[in-house]
Amino acid sequence: MPTKSTRAIGLMSGTSLDGVDVAWLETDGESITHFGTTAMLQYEESLRADLRRLLDLAPSIAADDPFLLDVEQRLTQDHAIAVVLAGRNADVIGFHGQTILHAPDQHRTWQIGDAARLAHLCRMPVVHDFRSADVAAGGQGAPLAPLFHAAMARDLPKPLLIVNIGGVANITYLGANGEILACDTGPGNGPLDDLAQKHLGQPYDKDGALAASGTIDATRLATLLAHPYFARPAPKSLDRLTFSALIAQATAGLQPADAAATLAEFCTSAIARAPLPAAPLRVLVGGGGRKNPVLMAGLARAFTVPVQPVEAAGWDGDALEAQCFAYLAVRSLKGLPLSLPSTTGVAQPLTGGRLQSVIL
Ligand SMILES: Nc1ncnc2c1ncn2[C@@H]1O[C@H](COP(=O)(O)OP(=O)(O)O)[C@@H](O)[C@H]1O
Ligand SMILES: [Mg+2]
Repeated sequence: MPTKSTRAIGLMSGTSLDGVDVAWLETDGESITHFGTTAMLQYEESLRADLRRLLDLAPSIAADDPFLLDVEQRLTQDHAIAVVLAGRNADVIGFHGQTILHAPDQHRTWQIGDAARLAHLCRMPVVHDFRSADVAAGGQGAPLAPLFHAAMARDLPKPLLIVNIGGVANITYLGANGEILACDTGPGNGPLDDLAQKHLGQPYDKDGALAASGTIDATRLATLLAHPYFARPAPKSLDRLTFSALIAQATAGLQPADAAATLAEFCTSAIARAPLPAAPLRVLVGGGGRKNPVLMAGLARAFTVPVQPVEAAGWDGDALEAQCFAYLAVRSLKGLPLSLPSTTGVAQPLTGGRLQSVIL
């Protein structure tokens, strides 16, 4: 007998700080029975800039710092508006929050967002704090998309590689015998966005125009790829700023276009270096990076198998991460695992998330 389906709204604000993605779906925590509205609420420039500042401040800022609390309230308010954009009622909201620090090796991961306020504003219970339990248990706390990817790809031929290019890039490898492997591969759009902000005054390099006009500097690329992270076995995960100092050093003195070309190649070469047990049949790419033709061309060069946006499988590449946190909220309510030894390095499959009920 099928178990009861739960209607969930997922909210994801990724490390690109571009806005909050929202998605509605219905699931029993295993298979997804209905997909609903998806949307994105773009952050206004001032919130984006303040969030970017918080990433730099996070290692030393106090949890009750007035600037942090103010940004958290503005962020939470935008999430409430995003829930309204989803336009339908739900039984639960999955609220990822905004990661401002991710240091699993120090048993720390920090997502800001006021779950009690969101539950109150939306009059819906909220599952939040998805990563802490995993990190407390010695896991990486990331990526958390693999079990969702596995549910989405249930009927697709394996092995399959799913790549998400956000601020950081991550992969899920789904093997022919049900294996699920995952890790953050390296930088995604993050360093390219920083470069575009600095040299173009734009939040990102639209359609990869700047990167396409530059030349890859092979020596600098080799310096970047010599970072010890790439030799580490999976599972492993990254902070948005893990490579900042190295990138600043390796791109110093380069023309912006050449720096962009080199950073784009850094992203795709790092994805191609992810340790996989077998070659996939194809590569599906989600996240905003799939809209950057330079990144897609880099991946197509790096893999011998077809590289396609996730839309080729009928998925919505903009909404995937928000759908993931709707799905994980329901899994959390049911006590089902959110992470596995092969996805975060945690010792046992582990549930996570905390339930915040509505306070009126
Ligand atoms: N047309 C485009 N051309 C180039 N890059 C794009 C385009 N559209 C989106 N992006 C990139 O995608 C990013 C947003 O991707 P997203 O999946 O939301 O990442 P995150 O999950 O980190 O927020 C933007 O910051 C930008 O770098
Ligand atoms: Mg985003």
